[in-house]
This record gives sequence, C-alpha cells and structure tokens, in this order.
Amino acid sequence: MDNNITWHNNKVSYKERCELLGQKGIAVWFTGLSGSGKSTIAVEVEKKLYELGKYSYILDGDNIRHGINAGLGFSKEDRTENIRRITEIAKLFADAGAVTLVSFITPFKEMRDKAREKVGADRFIEVYVKADYETCAKRDPKGLYKQNIQNFTGKSSPYEVPEDAEVVLDTEKYNVEECVQQILEVILKKIEL
Ligand code: ADX
Repeated sequence: MDNNITWHNNKVSYKERCELLGQKGIAVWFTGLSGSGKSTIAVEVEKKLYELGKYSYILDGDNIRHGINAGLGFSKEDRTENIRRITEIAKLFADAGAVTLVSFITPFKEMRDKAREKVGADRFIEVYVKADYETCAKRDPKGLYKQNIQNFTGKSSPYEVPEDAEVVLDTEKYNVEECVQQILEVILKKIEL
C-alpha cells in the first residue's frame, strides 16, 4: 500500500467472539423521519435485550452528531458522510458481537444499500419505522416541525421511503410495545447461533 498501512489479522474470529457471547453480532438499522419513533423503539429494544441477557448498543443520530460527527450538517453531502462514518462504526460493533441498534434518518436508499453491503447482508436488518410527515409533524417531540429549518427531511430535503426493508414497523397502527415485540422477534431469530 502506498500509505504504509497494512491490514493486521487477529487471532480471535467473529465466530469465536459470537460463541463467547452466545449470540451473533448484527446491525439493526432503523430508518424513518424525525419523530417517527426510531429512538424510542431502539431504547425499549435495548432494555428487552438486556433483560434477555443479550448484548446490545445504540448508535443514535442525535447523540453521535454531538461527538464523532459534530461539525456535519444536513446537506446531502454531510448526511452521506454522517452515514458513511456510522456504517463503519456499526460494522465494527457488529463484528465485535453486539446487537447494534442504529437509529438515523438515513433518508437515501443509496446510503441504506451501502450500509447493508458494508456490514454484510447476513448481519443486517433494515427496519423502516413508518409514520408519514403529517403524523411526525403532529407528534413533533423536539419542536422541530414548527420551525422553519433548512433542508428539513420530508419537507425541504427528501426522504426516500424504503421499499426493501426486512421489517416495517407501522407506528401509526401499532403502539411502542407492539412495535418492540415485532422487531424483537426478528432480532432474536437473527442472532441465534
Ligand atoms: S441523517 O439524515 O444524517 O440520517 P440524523 O439521523 O443523523 O440525520 O439526524 C437527524 C436528527 O437531527 C433529527 O432527529 C433532528 O433532531 C435533527 N435535525 C436537525 N436538523 C435537521 C434537518 N434539517 N433535517 C432532519 N433532522 C434534523
């Protein structure tokens, strides 16, 4: 390599880490509008997994944008870089054996497809947290919809509705507990050794 960086091979494999933990490491990728319920559901899923003795970790847009991705805004370019970094982080967490709960709007299909490809389709569940713009605007948990924010997803910046998500959680039809149950079943099956 021209930058003098070489790949270092480890002596403990993904499979061995999974056996140690008694679960597979995967990324559960929640996508949906702001206020659709991604983080609320992820937090409850994390709690349930903990109670079941499963190791998980949440990567959340609002938190990560305070740290590693501070400085990135909401242009298409910045969102793409935001998700590119998150994809790499999610890949590491999944490889480490965690049920990695990833909660970002991830508005473009290309980003989601890239994430699936990078993490590996066998370690990836795309979850569309479904609620339309009007519903999210009515909920407006962070008071964002009533402001006139530039490049706002669903209004002045696009959200490409997922057409090939493994799971759709319809938060207009089901309450939090029901959505949590639906995704939990899929996760538990996916992480079985
Ligand atoms: S993403 O498009 O790059 O995936 P991300 O999930 O990290 O977005 O951040 C979304 C969060 O940032 C929203 O939940 C909201 O709290 C906040 N936010 C601030 N400005 C915007 C905006 N213009 N569009 C969407 N969300 C915004």
